[in-house]
Amino acid sequence: MSHAMIDYDRFLSKAALKSQGSAIRKMGVMAVRVPDMISFAPGYPDPAVYAWEEFREIASELLTGRDGTVLQYGPTRGHKPLIEACLEILASRDIRATIEQVLITTGSQQGIDLIGRVLLDPGDVVLLELPAYTGAIAAFKNTGAALVGVRQEADGIDIEDLERAVARERAAGRTIRCLYLVPNFQNPTGLLLSLEKRKRLLDWASRANLLIVEDDPYGALYFEDSATSVDTRPLKADDGEGRVIYLSSFSKTLAPGFRVAWMVAPEPIASKLDLFKQTQDLMTPALDQHVIYEAYRRGILTSRLPMLRKFYQEKRTVMQDELRAQLGDLITWPEPKGGFFLWATLPAHCSTNDMLPRAIEQRVIYVTGSAFFIDGTGANILRLSFSLPTKEKIVEGVQRLTRVVKEELAGHKTPLEI
Ligand SMILES: Cc1ncc(COP(=O)(O)O)c(C=O)c1O
Repeated sequence: MSHAMIDYDRFLSKAALKSQGSAIRKMGVMAVRVPDMISFAPGYPDPAVYAWEEFREIASELLTGRDGTVLQYGPTRGHKPLIEACLEILASRDIRATIEQVLITTGSQQGIDLIGRVLLDPGDVVLLELPAYTGAIAAFKNTGAALVGVRQEADGIDIEDLERAVARERAAGRTIRCLYLVPNFQNPTGLLLSLEKRKRLLDWASRANLLIVEDDPYGALYFEDSATSVDTRPLKADDGEGRVIYLSSFSKTLAPGFRVAWMVAPEPIASKLDLFKQTQDLMTPALDQHVIYEAYRRGILTSRLPMLRKFYQEKRTVMQDELRAQLGDLITWPEPKGGFFLWATLPAHCSTNDMLPRAIEQRVIYVTGSAFFIDGTGANILRLSFSLPTKEKIVEGVQRLTRVVKEELAGHKTPLEI
């Protein structure tokens, strides 16, 4: 029997039937295939600033065969020296944690997925910012949870709207489990949550008796012209009651191909996360963990941070200057004070979804704002990631994008619509 004759949907779980691929990943794949495409789509770090030589040295030392643990199974929670290194990094962010509270994960993406599995039953409510990171939206959706959006303001999540959402969902008899948020240079908006709101959120979690999932892959990449390490102080640093599950990652600072990240959770939750991680992958790849540990031990991570901050800050500035020069006040955005993303709003009647095929024709690509909204809004917004292209490509890419935006504003119709 040929594959075409079998209706495979009959065999799929309800969750698998409902699941959809990430718009960002699809666009990323498309961008790679088209020659000379300038991609503002995926939030990839720039390989030009990976510590290639140091990684090569470390890997060849690790692979001599003297230490069998480098290619052996190991504890699910992670390579102990790396966990201890994470405790030091956490302490530098004013977070005091114990070894029992930390797990090394295969990317923070796995951490988010594990949280979904450990905290959420079908129908439970998870609160998310509007807009939110698509990887979290997808992971939480897969659990069958109900995703409820909370509006944002210039200084981060709107706490009054959060209170209203909680009251509304509870009045409807739903069980709320947690709030997921990215306080530092959020993906996709680049927004930085104010210190005042960080304090208020901890009070809120206590009053509402809920947990906060704090996802912080970008905090170390603040731009020194507009933010400091004080502004990125994690909520977890002031979490007296143990209400915050904190995630961070080496992906954006060392390299995402290693797939090494870590999370801190109250012990009773950490032990459940450990059990669920066992069935996902037994452990995060040992070689990756050893390389990252060595990179940390040799000071490679810490010593490179100032260079990385400057490197991405310059790219951000080039993108902003070119957008301003080309599009003036037709396009607006909150200035990113760190991270990889610029969240650009066009006039209300523009559709960044409709524009996308024309952008691809012009060989420039972005992610449409609506991909990040769980309420179907964001049609006139685009997420532009400035992290990967060179400065020259950023300028060229903005010029290509400008042609598409101007066409859209002039009421361009596709041949089918005419
Ligand atoms: C907000 C956020 N969380 C998590 C991740 C996943 O990172 P990792 O490579 O550690 O899985 C990303 C990656 O883009 C992200 O932007």
